[in-house]
Amino acid sequence: MEEATLEKLVSLCKRRGFIYPGSEIYGGLSGTWDYGPLGIALKNNVKNIWWRMNVLERDDMYGVDAAILMNPKAWEASGHVAGFSDPLVECKKCKRRFRADQVEEKCPECEGAFGAVRQFNMMFKTHIGAAEDEASVSYLRPETAGGIFVNFKNIIDSFHPKLPFGVGQIGKAFRNEIAPRDFLFRTREFEQMEIEYFVRPGEWEKKFEEWRDEMYRYMEAVGIPRALVHELEVPDGERAHYSKRTIDFEFDFPFGRKELYGLAYRTDFDLAAHSKASGVELRMTDEEGKEPVMPHVIEPSFGVDRTILALLVSAYTEDELGGEKRTYLKLNAAVAPIKAAVFPLLKNKPPLVAKAREIYSELKKTVPQIMWDDNGNIGKRYRRQDEIGTPACITVDFETLENDTVTVRSRDTGEQMRVSVSELSSIVR
Ligand code: GAP
Repeated sequence: MEEATLEKLVSLCKRRGFIYPGSEIYGGLSGTWDYGPLGIALKNNVKNIWWRMNVLERDDMYGVDAAILMNPKAWEASGHVAGFSDPLVECKKCKRRFRADQVEEKCPECEGAFGAVRQFNMMFKTHIGAAEDEASVSYLRPETAGGIFVNFKNIIDSFHPKLPFGVGQIGKAFRNEIAPRDFLFRTREFEQMEIEYFVRPGEWEKKFEEWRDEMYRYMEAVGIPRALVHELEVPDGERAHYSKRTIDFEFDFPFGRKELYGLAYRTDFDLAAHSKASGVELRMTDEEGKEPVMPHVIEPSFGVDRTILALLVSAYTEDELGGEKRTYLKLNAAVAPIKAAVFPLLKNKPPLVAKAREIYSELKKTVPQIMWDDNGNIGKRYRRQDEIGTPACITVDFETLENDTVTVRSRDTGEQMRVSVSELSSIVR
């Protein structure tokens, strides 16, 4: 997909109610996007599949939903206050600011010279309570991981797990990115799906490999094409301060090959640092009669919004069907916001409308993501559903009234098959 097509995708997302620019009526707010009705449906599918595969279906995983605001001491201990920064340069002439690693020697706006590179901390600062002084400073979390580490002891005390085990969390994270860009790719407010998987120090390599496979399994489940994903072994000196090994899973976005997800070996960096700073013992007894151990951590980290961008980018298709150009989203049925649409062939024939309503209501009881459409002709309705990625369109026609069958039309091929109404529940899921 070319960059120009990303523009078309942004426009489709707005027009059809997937994603809108944040605070648009006030001219927007850089680095923020709002999910509309179809966007939130897609996003919930992405998150639910993740939660199901990585938390619910596993006996070794626990879920949490920690507060976004945390005691600032947690971010001091984790190294984020001192080290979570990007290199910033300011143009001496026009005063615009850029990420130093994303520009050449001169300002791209006015050719002015840059001042010295300085480190810019990306955490959003805020104040807790009425006093706006240094003592009340806190931060919006820059990664969900922090909320997992501070609850490590709580999970141990409540559930007494044995190593290895993990904790998963889905939630918002905030970064004051110097240069938000490329639609959902780099934003200032985004969502992460993260796992901190606690292991015995000697088994980290084995567990790292297992999670690498699990990450591919998730990509396959939501429909991220394997051929567009590439691994990058992040070299020494370029990894986050807490990591001894990181693989970035990069995706071929229209604007280049960029990070989609990360898999890191965080050693015992976080637990040791939180234990030291809080004074709370975070080693755990793994085997009776043995010395307590400080677990090491494997961290598979997934961006929700980058998942959605990767899905939309790979689903966006322009083709010709029946001699007409069309645009459609070839989304995997598991993530498609609408699973099926139900139409009466003609909206001015009450028996057709009544039968279609009956089928619609019945399907909706088991699959709520069903849409009703009786506007315009059938061809237009198909096009509208294609554009939002609905895998199947069900049409109630005169034959339905005679033999209780309907046509089911496939989004990808445009082909129709005639099936009995009783079969629909096994087709629409
Ligand atoms: N806990 C590890 C961590 O936060 P990261 O590589 O900084 O590692 C993990 O972020 C994932 O979060 C990324 O792979 C990406 O999917 C997503 N992410 C990070 N920054 C983002 C941003 N500014 N906008 C959208 N997604 C972002």
